[in-house]
Amino acid sequence: MILKDIWLDIKAVQERDPAARSAFEVLFLYQGIHALIWHRFAHWFYCHKMFFIARLISQIARFFTLIEIHPGARMGHGILIDHGSGVVIGETAVVGDNCTIYQGVTLGGVGTKKGKRHPTLGNNVMVGAGAKILGAFEVGDNCSIAANAVLLKPLEDNVTAVGIPARPVKKDGVSLPKKREAMTLEEYEEMKRQMEQMTRELKELKEMAERLAKEKEARESISE
Ligand SMILES: CC(C)(COP(=O)(O)OP(=O)(O)OC[C@H]1O[C@@H](n2cnc3c(N)ncnc32)[C@H](O)[C@@H]1OP(=O)(O)O)[C@@H](O)C(=O)NCCC(=O)NCCS
Repeated sequence: MILKDIWLDIKAVQERDPAARSAFEVLFLYQGIHALIWHRFAHWFYCHKMFFIARLISQIARFFTLIEIHPGARMGHGILIDHGSGVVIGETAVVGDNCTIYQGVTLGGVGTKKGKRHPTLGNNVMVGAGAKILGAFEVGDNCSIAANAVLLKPLEDNVTAVGIPARPVKKDGVSLPKKREAMTLEEYEEMKRQMEQMTRELKELKEMAERLAKEKEARESISE
């Protein structure tokens, strides 16, 4: 079973990394693959409650690959961890099949409570370089999280999310309408200036109307 998982991981790299040449090269030279191989063994020990050995393996893997996958994390098949340095995947994280994870990604928790505290990624999710997904929520199938985004909320299937905090910008490949940005200070100052000018002009018009009404009244009283 572990060997099959490793083979699927190698195939995933070959399919999704244009720079990958052969299965042999991927197996020996890709630290993302090495991290996943170490992790498959560490996870086996973790599931059999041999926590110290599990953690030891994951720390050795971290030393050699700069990728830290907690032995408790559940990793699917065909995962591509590209480049990999600085990737951190927490204990209760779940990564679905065929996900792609770039360097600097954190699948982390918020707070110090025990229990489920890390995200669950669906299948075919892409997490861009440097992105952070923080909290115990689900990211749907086929989602893309932009490079350097910080995702704090769940996502439905087929959503692209960007920014800090990450917000959906595409659903099913179609751009979502943009929300009106909050008014800037300059826009507020301009609006205030126009309001003051309108108030001034209205006052002048009112005074003029009163003056004309008085003049008309005076003319009428003279002609009588
Ligand atoms: C998120 C991503 C998948 C979007 O791809 P896409 O579907 O082609 O989307 P678009 O390029 O049309 O971008 C949609 C909007 O998101 C914005 N956007 C895209 N990536 C962004 C990012 N990383 N941060 C902030 N905004 C981003 C675009 O500017 C665009 O905004 P606009 O509609 O106001 O112009 C892609 O930009 C990305 O970040 N991929 C990660 C790649 C990576 O990490 N590579 C590492 C290789 S080593």
